Amino acid sequence: MGSFSKVGVVGCGLMGAGIAEVCARAGLDVVVAERDPAAIASGRSRLIDSLDRGLRSGKLTEQEREAALHRTSFTSELADLAGRGLVIEAVIERYDDKASVFKQLDQVLADDAVIASNTSSIPIIDLAAATSRPQRVVGVHFFNPVPVQRLVEVIPTQLTSPEVTEQITTFAERTLGKTVVLARDRAGFVVNALLAPYLVSAVRMLEAGVASAEDIDKGMVLGCAHPMGPLRLLDLIGLDTAQSIAESMYEEYKEPLYAPPPLLRRMVAAGTLGRKSGRGFYDYT
Ligand code: CAA
Repeated sequence: MGSFSKVGVVGCGLMGAGIAEVCARAGLDVVVAERDPAAIASGRSRLIDSLDRGLRSGKLTEQEREAALHRTSFTSELADLAGRGLVIEAVIERYDDKASVFKQLDQVLADDAVIASNTSSIPIIDLAAATSRPQRVVGVHFFNPVPVQRLVEVIPTQLTSPEVTEQITTFAERTLGKTVVLARDRAGFVVNALLAPYLVSAVRMLEAGVASAEDIDKGMVLGCAHPMGPLRLLDLIGLDTAQSIAESMYEEYKEPLYAPPPLLRRMVAAGTLGRKSGRGFYDYT
């Protein structure tokens, strides 16, 4: 079964740029589609920064860096993805935005192309339903920072063809060098179903005044050997994304445990979204 050599990525925020990077570093031809020109500019510089990091740490050579950049192009038109065998959607974590991308991709791509979503928490079947090819729709969920984290969750729906599940698993493992876990199509899949309640609990703990942000984080770093504490991790993920994940999970399970706490909502409303906006639970300016 052939793997994919020409891929498309829709969206070039934190996740889209990271996915494009790992694909380009794996030798694939990558086209990144993003409507907003400012987002294209920041996605491109994110990609360059990350490749430069790889160069500095000896993970790739100058030649490999150039080749990865050369293999990656950007467009503002989804129609430019025609001819891609696989397109990975990584736009904002909102159902309407994702469904609209899926609908348009369905019209543009060849009938046998695979459309995958990097959604963290939206049921894949809801996105598949926006297309005429639900058997060729699958979830492929990466983790941030994409070049660093070794896991990819693969999420087939009730309608995904087993051939597509196998193709995307082979792609993630053999082509991209990731490790795959297979998850059922339930909001949060495996990792976020466990991680999201932990993260929002940390926000509730801060809100309740149990400890300072620094001490909550220190507790988990030094007490449980996590690479970073929950509040710093929320800043890395982006508070808006975290809120959307919590909302989707609450919508699915109706468990108070998943509901976004007021402090998280207030911080998102204030635009303090974490690292990407310069301020979240910590200051990055
Ligand atoms: N791009 C590329 N490489 C990066 C990077 C980035 N954005 N950030 C870090 N790295 C690389 C560095 O170059 C470095 O590589 P070398 O060891 O070869 O030099 C390595 O990662 C370690 O980086 P640092 O020394 O700068 O920092 P660190 O050791 O503190 O690690 C971290 C930083 C990788 C972010 C680490 O703290 C970590 O793994 N944190 C947990 C992150 C996590 O839990 N992610 C999952 C979030 S959940 C998610 O993504 C799913 C979702 O749906 C929300």
